[in-house]
Amino acid sequence: MAFELVIIGGGRMGSALAEGLLSAHWCVAEQLAVVETSLDARAALAERLSGVSIVQSFDAGHVGATTGAVLCVKPDQAEAAARLAGATGVTRLLSVVAGLSSARIEALFPGPVAVVRAMPNTPVLVRKGVSAIAGGSHVVKDDLDWAESILGAVGTVVRVPERHLDAVTGLSGSMPAYLYLVVESLIDAGVHQGLAREVSRALVVGTFEGSAALLTSSGASPEELRAQVTSPGGTTAAGLRMLEGRAVRAAFLEAVAAAAERSRQLGR
Ligand SMILES: NC(=O)c1ccc[n+]([C@@H]2O[C@H](COP(=O)([O-])OP(=O)(O)OC[C@H]3O[C@@H](n4cnc5c(N)ncnc54)[C@H](OP(=O)(O)O)[C@@H]3O)[C@@H](O)[C@H]2O)c1
Repeated sequence: MAFELVIIGGGRMGSALAEGLLSAHWCVAEQLAVVETSLDARAALAERLSGVSIVQSFDAGHVGATTGAVLCVKPDQAEAAARLAGATGVTRLLSVVAGLSSARIEALFPGPVAVVRAMPNTPVLVRKGVSAIAGGSHVVKDDLDWAESILGAVGTVVRVPERHLDAVTGLSGSMPAYLYLVVESLIDAGVHQGLAREVSRALVVGTFEGSAALLTSSGASPEELRAQVTSPGGTTAAGLRMLEGRAVRAAFLEAVAAAAERSRQLGR
């Protein structure tokens, strides 16, 4: 039986996508297959994804004219998995594999394949991810729409040229880690001021969530929202002055540049 979509790799990213697609009614469970080599992972997936075919491998019998595939394995496993997809007759592939260019994937296929590359981030696990997508040399608008509909089930999607994916990797791909570091540091700062750790954590995590909601719902810029809580000569102004003195803004510029450069190196 031919599937509508075959997700290759049922790890964190692949399983989150499968759940998001089912919950968004992108397809019915019977149209979806997850290919997963690990026996234990297959058992866990079968419990989580009722009605979805959880298979160890797939072949041409599973692939019809409209079947697409999503490559969700680790970078070192990706070329073998892509070659297998090509051998089955897949002609449309969405890859979330970091650092693997569309040209390299295309070269693994026996014929023309529409490759859309994506850089998602970990909030896709709670369907609040942000993904950037870029098309390879055989991609038309319909392929990008298809890829956007898949990743749109687990968050928001922006389109960029492929040459910008390293910058995206250094920015939104790594950004959850940057923000968690900020959150960790602020919780420690509350403790240093004498607050119990659980009180500090509640204050910091709640403020983090509320500030993000205010930013998205108010329509105001980050600069405007920051100015609203910075009274002249007040407490927040004193704190911000210290952060500017420690070059926190420059540190973020350097962090994103370093992560983007590392992404370029890994992709060579
Ligand atoms: N997690 C993120 O935040 C994130 C963000 C952006 C991009 N990505 C990309 O997403 C990809 C997947 O990441 P992940 O965190 O979901 O990895 P993961 O949890 O390790 O999942 C990959 C799964 O695929 C299985 N697998 C390996 N080779 C296979 C094959 N040939 N056919 C079918 N299944 C196979 C692995 O099994 P074994 O364990 O037995 O090898 C593993 O269960 C990576 O390339 C990563 O660069 C991830």
